Amino acid sequence: MEIQEKDCTIPRHVALIMDGNGRWAEERHRPRLFGHKAGVDSVREVVETARSLGIEVLTLYAFSTENWNRPEGEVSGLMGLLKNYLRSELRTMLRNGIRLNCLGLPQRLPEDVRTVLQQTIEETRSCTAMTLNLALNYGSRSELLVAIQAIARQCLEGSLDWHSLTEETLSAHLFTAGQPDPDLVIRTGGENRLSNFLLWQASYAELYFTEIKWPDFRKEQFMEALYSYSKRQRRFGKTGAQVVTG
Ligand code: IPE
Ligand code: IPE
Ligand code: MG
Repeated sequence: MEIQEKDCTIPRHVALIMDGNGRWAEERHRPRLFGHKAGVDSVREVVETARSLGIEVLTLYAFSTENWNRPEGEVSGLMGLLKNYLRSELRTMLRNGIRLNCLGLPQRLPEDVRTVLQQTIEETRSCTAMTLNLALNYGSRSELLVAIQAIARQCLEGSLDWHSLTEETLSAHLFTAGQPDPDLVIRTGGENRLSNFLLWQASYAELYFTEIKWPDFRKEQFMEALYSYSKRQRRFGKTGAQVVTG
């Protein structure tokens, strides 16, 4: 059965852990980078689908703080793919009103990647149809630590009063400041873990894990995840009856 948009509740923010590229390539007796390349086509299709469904924020986990520990050739291959992707997508992003945002500290990225990333962020700054967060050199613990350091400094300097700190204060110091929290976190590739992804922001997200490896995750599989999300009851601590009667 092909799932239609009318059968789905559309979340405001969907976050994706794009996993399984390496195993997808290994199954085909090809180098891991072949899987990463195929994964770029899934990125294009999922971004286009999210935009046409009216999803406000789409977050893609593209490179974690832990991924620097991979072999050098794989890291530089991934950085090259990222640069090409950003270069080739700028026109499409502008046409479709997609604003690019980076979650993570770009300092550690190679200079050529950083340059094209900053340019794309600048040029898409006034786009309003959808925000595309690319999590690059992203780790949730490091994000929280940086936020706490900034808050502590402001408290010491006197511009913040620690008595008045709220959950919103912390949210406002994260890379996702001003954005709604993810409603749905999807992980492809068969692993059931979060791998240091949006630990604060996803505290009430619905989780969807699929065996499908990222290069095979296309519009149809995305719609299936949205359909599954639509069937769930988000209770936020209340009883089911309370949620039904509002
Ligand atoms: C996800 O695919 C892409 C990145 C982490 C950059 P993997 O490369 O982790 O693929 P597997 O998990 O080894 O199959
Ligand atoms: C998570 O995938 C990071 C990204 C998708 C960018 P990994 O493949 O790096 O995760 P682990 O190490 O298996 O948990
Ligand atoms: Mg993996």
